[in-house]
Amino acid sequence: MEFKIERAKQLKEKPVETKLGFGRHFSDHMLVIDYTEGIGWHDGRIIPYGPIEMDPACMVLHYAQETFEGLKAYRHTDGSIALFRPEINAQRLIKSNERLCMPPVPVDLFLKGIEELVKYEQDWVPKEPRTSLYIRPFCFATESGVGLHPAKKYKFVVILSPVGDYYPEGVNPVKIWVEDEYVRAVKGGTGFAKCGGNYAASIAAQVKAEQNGYTQVLWLDGVHRKYVEEVGTMNVMFLINDTVVTTPLEGSILPGVTRDSIITLLKDWRVTVEERHLSIDELMEAGRTGALKEAFGTGTAAVISPIGELHYKDETVIINDFKTGKLTKKLYDTLTGIQWGRVEDPYHWVKIL
Ligand code: COI
Repeated sequence: MEFKIERAKQLKEKPVETKLGFGRHFSDHMLVIDYTEGIGWHDGRIIPYGPIEMDPACMVLHYAQETFEGLKAYRHTDGSIALFRPEINAQRLIKSNERLCMPPVPVDLFLKGIEELVKYEQDWVPKEPRTSLYIRPFCFATESGVGLHPAKKYKFVVILSPVGDYYPEGVNPVKIWVEDEYVRAVKGGTGFAKCGGNYAASIAAQVKAEQNGYTQVLWLDGVHRKYVEEVGTMNVMFLINDTVVTTPLEGSILPGVTRDSIITLLKDWRVTVEERHLSIDELMEAGRTGALKEAFGTGTAAVISPIGELHYKDETVIINDFKTGKLTKKLYDTLTGIQWGRVEDPYHWVKIL
């Protein structure tokens, strides 16, 4: 598919790169592709960033057939621009769409759309340390009607946002609230899919955590309320003695691209990784005895985020004196080194545009 291009009449002023924060600024253009049952994906276009007109009965507004992705474009020191494993995002979007009865966006179309949009908007890829261009592809039902059935019309849209750190803490440890009232997902539900509904359901606990002075929520499994699942914006890993323990992919957590990359790095470094159920009791006990050496989250937005404190019911454990651990730092430096082109990429994860 060839994309039509409509250039914005007026380009925006670029934000100050040292003060980007996360997801507050958007580039001049966006990609939009329509889907109609019986025709497929059609009318791909790069157009000025702006409002999308919707019928009030638009099905996504009522039954939330919506999925999304998150990846980044990185500016290398030679000026080139790199994507990180974008084909994994493409494949994950297909799985998310399948779960929500939405048509798949073919991998090639996803990649072409993102590559062309990022190249068109290349001036928006920031250069300052720890900044990147966050790419947010999303799909939603556009058919009008309030009967419940899979829609026959959709849009695939990609918007771009220059970003710095996700958390106000930057690369310093965050405080995590272990949620014991609400649950995020159950097996058989949509936990593995990247859909807005999962995030909507998580907001009440997020607000509770923030009211108590915590940055994020650590979810426990929805059946036993016992096993560690993931944090609202990232997967989690715990260094217990000399083993990294992380939740297995069994349908209720997001299969993170960063999670997969970190497991690969750890295994190459001969660090034992256990993808297994980890009860909150075992985790808190490891915190009490000092067996819990380090903890960190992994995600595209969050990158590698050290966890310095866990709060569960009435107990708080501090991890590694609330300092970033050695392994966490090495993982952060290696992963971001590969992404920003400062470290060799033996895995061919980086795709230069
Ligand atoms: C990402 O890490 O890309 C996400 O989609 C998480 C989101 C809450 C910012």
